Amino acid sequence: MLSGKHILLIIGGGIAAYKSLELIRRLQDKGARVTPVLTRAGEEFVTPLSVSALAGTAVHRDLFDLTAEAEMGHIQLSRSADLLVVAPATADLMAKMAQGHANDLASTLLLATDTPILLAPAMNVRMWQHPATRRNLAQLMGDGVQVVGPDEGGMACGEFGPGRLAEPDEIVRAIAAYFDAGPLAGKRIVVTSGPTHEPIDPVRYIANRSSGAQGTAVARALRALGAEVVFVTGPATVPPPEGVEVVPVETAREMAAAVDAALPADAAVFAAAVADWRVTSAGDRKLKKSKDGLPTLDFAENPDILKGVAQRQTGRPALVVGFAAETNDVIEHATAKRLRKGCDWIVANDVSPATGIMGGQENSVTVISDSGAEAWPRMAKEAVAEKLARKIADALAAPKPVT
Ligand code: C5P
Repeated sequence: MLSGKHILLIIGGGIAAYKSLELIRRLQDKGARVTPVLTRAGEEFVTPLSVSALAGTAVHRDLFDLTAEAEMGHIQLSRSADLLVVAPATADLMAKMAQGHANDLASTLLLATDTPILLAPAMNVRMWQHPATRRNLAQLMGDGVQVVGPDEGGMACGEFGPGRLAEPDEIVRAIAAYFDAGPLAGKRIVVTSGPTHEPIDPVRYIANRSSGAQGTAVARALRALGAEVVFVTGPATVPPPEGVEVVPVETAREMAAAVDAALPADAAVFAAAVADWRVTSAGDRKLKKSKDGLPTLDFAENPDILKGVAQRQTGRPALVVGFAAETNDVIEHATAKRLRKGCDWIVANDVSPATGIMGGQENSVTVISDSGAEAWPRMAKEAVAEKLARKIADALAAPKPVT
């Protein structure tokens, strides 16, 4: 999972610096490339030779190292990495970062970069708990810097408490989690999928042919980009994706209640094939054949879940996406549907039998938004899901228009 990733590892001065050697090893074992930077104080604890021998590359030490400047330059050095990791991050380095100092190579790299930064602090417990460090930490976290540790335990100075550098494995996990996070990290997305079953009596029901394949693929793709997904699914034939919160439901009304309970969310994608009607005469007794004639079923309209969420006055997700399965005049019908329902996008497809889309592996969709209709080429349902998930990630990342 770290394969091919380039980590710029800044080793600060502290007794825990020796653990950074182990960290280099573990990162390399996972396939990462590590470029080490050693601060002056760091050199007191580990030698440049051991760091560069382990990293298999020269260790950067000096801001005014002209050879390095000519070859690369400190600005480029800080930006060529996928992630900057500071381990150990001393109280002094954190203070410099919080204040924006740039008076040595490490602090200059940290200030010059637009690459995300992960800190693994390590210091004496009193230094960690000092209001100045607390202030600096809050400032850095507010600036978007990520932090792993410190752990609690006995320290080299004989004191006990929080301040120990996180173990190398824990730091590797934090780094891996960062790369796993994806553009939808921190975003909560509700996805409906599958058919609904509307009971006629305790043993019979009205259903439809939805397999749940497209909704499942969308949920999986959103999860793969780091979203927290609540997957509200009717009785589908394909299994739900891994890593999502699965809320199984049967009827449209249960689905509506589950969606309501899952909000607030940043986005909602309605891929379920929801029954438009339910049988109001469904009781708890099985209908019997009778010589008095055929049974009559009474129907009531089901709640339109998509419309209800899209038209919420409060707590509406920033992005509401519906699907529209049409058999003719797809764009025209789906465009009207988008307006009628009040959703942001409609993913429309032609499900007329000749297309082979219903129950098939592929889909050919047109995404309709207020900026028009975007026709996507025919592709596997998984590929449609991945393209849609990327589009959702882009939309949620874009700054909100000022209204
Ligand atoms: O109105 P129609 O069923 O064609 O609209 C399809 C879209 O509306 C899909 O996104 C579907 O999940 C959603 N829908 C819903 N609740 C309903 C009916 C449809 O959420 N009762």
